[in-house]
Amino acid sequence: MRNNRKIMIAGNWKEHLTVGQASIFLHGLEQTVQTRQSVEVVLFPNVLTLQPISMQLDRRKFRMGAQDGFYEDAGAYTGEVSMAMLRDLVHYVLVGHSERRHIFNENDDIASKKMQAAVRNGIMPVLCIGETLQERLAGETNQILHNQITAGLRNLTAREVGACVIAYEPVWAIGTGEFALPDQVSRAIDYIRKQVEHLFGERASENIRILYGGSVDDHNAGSFLSIAGCDGALVGGASLNYHKFAGIVESAYRVHQSRLGVR
Ligand code: 13P
Repeated sequence: MRNNRKIMIAGNWKEHLTVGQASIFLHGLEQTVQTRQSVEVVLFPNVLTLQPISMQLDRRKFRMGAQDGFYEDAGAYTGEVSMAMLRDLVHYVLVGHSERRHIFNENDDIASKKMQAAVRNGIMPVLCIGETLQERLAGETNQILHNQITAGLRNLTAREVGACVIAYEPVWAIGTGEFALPDQVSRAIDYIRKQVEHLFGERASENIRILYGGSVDDHNAGSFLSIAGCDGALVGGASLNYHKFAGIVESAYRVHQSRLGVR
């Protein structure tokens, strides 16, 4: 059953695109990216551009996600955009991206509230987890992943967890051009799935999708997507280059074909 599952390629448009720039970029992307039944392509534009992009978007080709969302559905929270406000606009939302954790001091408690708010509003959350270089060198990778998974999935049911996505994004590989080795990614993915199994049971651990993120490009994507248990990629920098992003989608298509034994 796993072999038939679509591969998810998520593009986090993390640069500050204006509405005009985002619209021009989407146009280019629509011309370049080939639609493949076996690949789910999700774009994550910034919050200002979500609405205009959603009107321009070819829904047969792309789905949309938000880069963040606030955990209270309503109330006086100047400047925040709640999951309730996003619910009719997006399929997915990133939660706990390392830039939110490290630049905006978001802790596991906030990630947990955002996960619950996303699920409550019918949006599929993509929980981003990963260790810093210091933590990896200190041999703390598994402990960090364990803490982030336990906190992030707290108060969700096994069924809800099965519908979530986890993105393993080692902090040292984000935007640095330095990517994790497939063996490191493979070990992290296995560990994450085992933790989910331990906490929520076998069904949830089989159903949850696990992505890799960190300097993924059109040259290295195939080596990550071929890892057993890797359900896709969360792409930052390369998602803002049509040719690279289209190349990543094609790599996903080829990996899916080879999983099915098609030559
Ligand atoms: P890069 O692909 O630029 O390393 O960014 C990864 C990321 O943070 C995606 O969310």
